[in-house]
Amino acid sequence: MELNVALFVVVMAVVSALCISIFGRIGVGLAVLFWFVGLIGLAFSLAWVHRAVTEFQGSPFPGGSNSGARWDGALSRHKSEKHDSNMVRLVPMSEVEFRESFERTIVRRAADSVHRGVWSKEKATEAARSEMAVFIPQGRDSPGHRFVKVIDESNGKQVGEAWFSARDEGGKVRFWVDWLWTDPPQRRRGYATAVLQQLSREAAKLGADRMGLFVFADNPHAIALYTKLGFVSMVMGMSKPVQ
Ligand SMILES: CC(C)(COP(=O)(O)OP(=O)(O)OC[C@H]1O[C@@H](n2cnc3c(N)ncnc32)[C@H](O)[C@@H]1OP(=O)(O)O)[C@@H](O)C(=O)NCCC(=O)NCCS
Repeated sequence: MELNVALFVVVMAVVSALCISIFGRIGVGLAVLFWFVGLIGLAFSLAWVHRAVTEFQGSPFPGGSNSGARWDGALSRHKSEKHDSNMVRLVPMSEVEFRESFERTIVRRAADSVHRGVWSKEKATEAARSEMAVFIPQGRDSPGHRFVKVIDESNGKQVGEAWFSARDEGGKVRFWVDWLWTDPPQRRRGYATAVLQQLSREAAKLGADRMGLFVFADNPHAIALYTKLGFVSMVMGMSKPVQ
């Protein structure tokens, strides 16, 4: 922009000098007129350029000459939130955190099963505990199982949790995502995607050629997530009411 102004001044100076040298006193009047019209034109063009630049940089953010820079920051953060699998760190749960996660899982599993008509309301919690006792008999130290908190790298806050496991099955590594959850206010920001991308790398490192999980057919959000990431249905459980 400074270059344009300098160019304008040089051109106007040359035009004025030519006018004066060619037309004498009348040339002075002409030069003044040129400067007047030129300055108005320059002011309009600078205003137009300023508006265009501001719009490009994101004037929706109010105030300050820094608004463009803030918009750039917001844009790159949005991109990284949506696409960067390194946006999260998976940190092993402490024993206390595992206990809390475990108890939440019991409550959720019991409620889900009652809702789906699988267990009775009275026996659901007991059934969930029995199931867990088989699934992870040694709790957090159950062989092959990992229980992690999902931490947002940018601010250190916990945004979710995941349980996963790997074991040898028929001479192949069976890598399984046992549970994945993101904090409701943090959903649709790419956290679960980032977790699954990291787990996919973890699975490959362990020698697995696939990773698997179970998902209920009435969980469209999770199914949309998994489908988007390339999971395909391998097994289908079916049931119907009977008379
Ligand atoms: C399922 C769940 C883990 C998704 O977490 P998330 O952090 O919101 O997922 P992401 O932001 O990575 O979503 C990625 C994609 O999944 C799909 N998706 C996720 N949530 C969705 C929703 N509520 N509706 C439609 N599609 C959805 C979309 O395709 C989304 O991409 P988009 O936002 O660009 O459209 C989260 O909703 C959750 O914790 N649900 C409750 C627990 C649960 O059901 N866990 C799975 C058990 S199998």
